[in-house]
Amino acid sequence: MKLHTRLCDLLGVRYPICQAGMAWVARSKLAAAVSEAGGLGVIAAAHGTPQDLRDEIRRVRDRTDKPFGVDLLFATLRVGGKEAEQFTDDVKGWAEVALDERVPVLIAGLGNPGPYTAEARRLGIKVMALCGNVKQARDHAANGVDVVIAQGHEAGGHTGRIGGLVLIPAVADAVAPRPVVAAGGIADGRGLAAALALGAEGVWMGTRFIATPEAWGHENYKKKIVAIDEEGTVVSRAASGKPNRLIRNNFTRDWEQRQHEIQPFPIQLERVGRAAATLARERGDIENGSAACGQSAGLIHGVVPVREVIERIVSEAETVLARFGRRAT
Ligand SMILES: Cc1cc2nc3c(=O)[nH]c(=O)nc-3n(C[C@H](O)[C@H](O)[C@H](O)COP(=O)(O)O)c2cc1C
Repeated sequence: MKLHTRLCDLLGVRYPICQAGMAWVARSKLAAAVSEAGGLGVIAAAHGTPQDLRDEIRRVRDRTDKPFGVDLLFATLRVGGKEAEQFTDDVKGWAEVALDERVPVLIAGLGNPGPYTAEARRLGIKVMALCGNVKQARDHAANGVDVVIAQGHEAGGHTGRIGGLVLIPAVADAVAPRPVVAAGGIADGRGLAAALALGAEGVWMGTRFIATPEAWGHENYKKKIVAIDEEGTVVSRAASGKPNRLIRNNFTRDWEQRQHEIQPFPIQLERVGRAAATLARERGDIENGSAACGQSAGLIHGVVPVREVIERIVSEAETVLARFGRRAT
């Protein structure tokens, strides 16, 4: 029984497995390895400048001719003290680069991509957008995205309050017949098979791909993900101003004591989060920096090359689906 869904046809990939955009971690080496192994590799923009993003897109293209994606956080700022909001300069810069480079897939990991969706689709770029509740899913569908990613509370990084077991089928019902991709807590083939059973057509996996040699990041970070169990993370606003799942450590405990000092997104990210992320992810100080990670760390028992991660997940999902006598299409 072969795993194949509408998502594979839409994105031009062999397996319905997307590697999540992850600031600092998801760069050209990881994205190209995932795409080469048959999934959708994704570069995150959030840690760099628009020029950095352009360089990374070109590096992916040097390594593979398979489809890949670019993940942006569509952050907005209030203007003139009124209700009107506009995208930050970073967002405008990244989006211009992604459109100019005609990347195969554009993903909104946070916020609503608004008019960029129509512009991207006009250029033949597929657009995916992430949601943490049904209202956001409906907004994305109304804005015309090709795929909605429904992410449960289990997820690493920015996360909502609803568990995946409820959110994924609720979103699938709300935006049908538009394809839905499941995210949050998925790290093995059982998770992929469960996502299909809940009405999704593929998965968006972050934490599992951090624990690979191809992911950018300090060895201590990867080892810590292998070492902690499902209780080793906590949701904190300390890194960015928005609820963000991080490894529980001195950084999260310290900010628990002074929550009133936390600034709104993206000010907290600029003042605290960037340096704290660099400390943990680049310099390896996992106890004192900010290390985003999902509850699925409890399912991850080794640092394993990308191709092996994908092959194991596919084979396990096929076995599970065969056991239930269900076809994956
Ligand atoms: C280290 C890390 C960094 C992240 N950075 C981003 C980001 O830059 N953009 C984004 O859309 N989501 C980001 N996320 C969320 C992921 O894209 C994804 O939605 C999440 O990891 C899925 O849950 P999982 O970790 O349980 O697989 C990040 C997650 C992690 C763990």
